[in-house]
This record gives sequence, structure tokens and C-alpha cells, in this order.
Amino acid sequence: MSTPPRVAAVHVLERVLERGETLDEALEAQSPRVAERDRPLLQALAYGALRWLTRLEAQGASLTPRDDWRRDPLLRALLVLGAWEAQGLATPAHAAVSEAVEAARRLRRARAAGMVNAVLRKLHRAPPPVPEDAAARHALPAWLAEHLHRAWPEDWPAVAEAGNEHPPMTLRVDPARVSRAACLELLTERGIAARPGAVAPTAITLDDPLPVSRLPGFSEGWLSVQDEAAQLAAPLLDPQPGERVLDACAAPGGKTLHLLEHAPGAALTALDRSARRLRQVRDNLARGGRQAHCVAADAADPDAWWDGKPFQRILLDAPCTGSGVIRRHPDIKWLRHADDPARMARTQRQLLTALWRLLAPGGRLVYATCSIFPEENEAVVAGFLAEHPEAVPGPLPAAGRRTGSGCQILPGESGMDGFFYACLERGAE
Ligand SMILES: C[S@@+](CC[C@H](N)C(=O)[O-])C[C@H]1O[C@@H](n2cnc3c(N)ncnc32)[C@H](O)[C@@H]1O
Repeated sequence: MSTPPRVAAVHVLERVLERGETLDEALEAQSPRVAERDRPLLQALAYGALRWLTRLEAQGASLTPRDDWRRDPLLRALLVLGAWEAQGLATPAHAAVSEAVEAARRLRRARAAGMVNAVLRKLHRAPPPVPEDAAARHALPAWLAEHLHRAWPEDWPAVAEAGNEHPPMTLRVDPARVSRAACLELLTERGIAARPGAVAPTAITLDDPLPVSRLPGFSEGWLSVQDEAAQLAAPLLDPQPGERVLDACAAPGGKTLHLLEHAPGAALTALDRSARRLRQVRDNLARGGRQAHCVAADAADPDAWWDGKPFQRILLDAPCTGSGVIRRHPDIKWLRHADDPARMARTQRQLLTALWRLLAPGGRLVYATCSIFPEENEAVVAGFLAEHPEAVPGPLPAAGRRTGSGCQILPGESGMDGFFYACLERGAE
């Protein structure tokens, strides 16, 4: 028998909030237990509740008098999900409340069923006022609100709001297979509303997300799903056919495939520390009909895998907090902590330093993150430049704003994810 979607959603929230699993992992574990027709509801419940959790809890706090109920992870999740359903989904009140009460019983919380019933009825009758506290209003954990405020004193409310939006589904066209204009026509013929991207010449934004199986030519590699900001990496690195190219943190391979679409004859090494994630790179390459040398290894330890031949181009799409892609991954609000930006910055600096010596004279390295915290971006690059006089800042994408020697795109700018790019060139010797 299948699990009711609200019960599964409680387990998803508990896995993310208590066990630190990603939302993708938690959904992967719970979705198969839920009937197929209920999976969109499970998804809408889990994403919405994680996105708005701080605000929902601030609004509901006075309605849940007993501390022990608030401290119980399963009850906490059930109440947050119920509060989200009352405010954010169109379920009729009686159905939403009775399903939540039934879920309380299924979760062996029958003694709290009366409380769940009373609290959710109240929330459906009269939505509580928006909290005055800025962090709660923008549904951010306090540390994240403070960090955003410090980084972007003027823009942070807009950045926070953009992080609560539903992201668009954006496609990348492989121009060797189909032009963007022809692809837009194909989509129109199939009744799929779409428009060209604002910045990247390969981008198409869909009005509504849909399963990739409905996209013309997806399995043949004509199209890939990739945010427009991420589509700026390959043209910035600008590899040429025949060059040795390193994609140092490649998985799941969105940019790897784009690099080979940009320069089909490049000799590309796709490296990632995670052998599991590297399989996704291989799958992406197979779908696109492109080849790369895939290596599971630590980019910070080239002695373990490098053959000593320099690369003309290196992409370092570094591991980061992901603070620029919260709209796609609302679990980031709960999985990251106040000391993560500084911790990530140390790793990023280490990777940059280790990979720089692999770059050929006259070569180019692109440093990218999907973070909007200066300590992971311009500060990493500035610290590096101060110690490497042979490194010269190169060109930048025509998007976002200049920050130090890089370019910062904030989430929502031209509809894009938050992204940082810097380009470093090694003078010819
Ligand atoms: C931001 S993701 C890369 C996204 C990828 N470039 C794309 O466009 O699909 C960062 C990746 O870096 C990998 N990674 C983290 N630390 C690493 C290291 N020391 N060496 C190699 N890969 C690493 C992670 O496994 C993760 O897949």
C-alpha cells in the first residue's frame, strides 16, 4: 500500500532538518513509496515548506502552546507542512485538515491529533499576519539573513525574495545540432511556450517547467537543462579545438558537455572527487554524443592524477555554499551554517592554488561559484592574485556587476541564478 503524500512529506522534512540529507536525497528515498498521482503534491509540500519554514513557524508559534510538541521533529514537520498547505496550496480546508489529522495518527502521534486539527483549522480560517522581523518575513534562518545583509546591504531584500521564487526551467541549445530559432519553432509547434534567454545566446526559457521527455531532441542531445547564468562559463573559458582542457569539478557535467559543444575537438579531462557523481558526467556526455577523459580524483592533489602536460584552459566550478541557487534548492537554508562561507573559501583557495600550476603559459583559468558571498568569490580571487603576480585578470561575461576582479550575478537578475565568474590568465613566458 502506498504512503499518503503528507506522511511522506513529513519524513522528507525530517530527513533534511534532522539528518542533514539534501532535499533531492530525501525525495529520492520517499517518492517511490507514494502513488504516482500524489508525487507532484509531495514535491509541492516539501519544497514550499522548506522554502517558507522560518516564516511559517514564526506565524504559527503562538498557535502551538506546548513546547514538547514543537520539539518533536515529526510533529514539527507536520505542522509546518499543514501551515504551508493552508497558505500556499489550493487544497480545500476540510480535506487538508482531515488528511493532516490522519497523518498524525499514521505517524503514531494520535494524542496530538486534536491539537493538529485545531491549529490547522485556525490557519485555514484566518491566515496570520506577515511577521515584522525581517529574517522571518523573508523566511531565512537568522545567520543567513545577517550574512546576506552584510554582503548586499541594499540588494538583500530583493535577493532574499528571489530566493523564494519558483525558478524558471531554462534550456541550452547545442548550436551544432539545432539553431535556437529553429528550436523555438519546434517548441511552439508542440504547444510549449518559450522565449530566448536574456544574456546567453544558447538559452531558452520555458514559461512552465515540464518533464524532459516532452522536449524535442532531448535524448539526442540537442537540448540540455541548464540555468542561463551557468551557460556563461563555456564561452568565457572559450576552449579551442585541439586544446587540452580541464574541467576540474565536473559533476554532474552540465558545463562539461557545454565545453565540448563549444569546442568539439577539445581534449577534455573531466575530473570530480565523487565517483558516483562522475557517472552523471558520463551519462550527460553519452546523451550529447561527446567524449571526455573522466577521472575520479581530488583536484587539490594533482600529483595523484596529473600526467604533467599543461592545460591551455581550466574550468574551476568550485564547491561552494550554493547561496546563489536557493530558489532551486531551498534545503540550502537548512543544510548550511554560519561558518560555511569561510570554510568553503579555504577549500576554494586551496583548489585554485593547486590547479594554477597546471595551466600552460598563455592559458586561461575560469573560477566560478554559484554563491553570492564575497568571501567565496572576489576575496578568494583577490587573495590569489596578491600571491601570484603572473596571474592577470581576463575578460568577464556581459552580465551582473563587477566585484573586485570578477563579475557577480545576483539571483533573479535577468531571471538567472546567482553566480560568480572570474577569469585568470597566465602571461606567456
Ligand atoms: C558546483 S559542483 C560542479 C557542477 C558542474 N561543474 C556542472 O556544471 O555540472 C562542484 C563539484 O565539485 C566536486 N568536488 C568537490 N571537491 C572536489 C575536489 N577536491 N576535487 C574534485 N572535485 C571536487 C563535487 O563533487 C561537485 O560535483
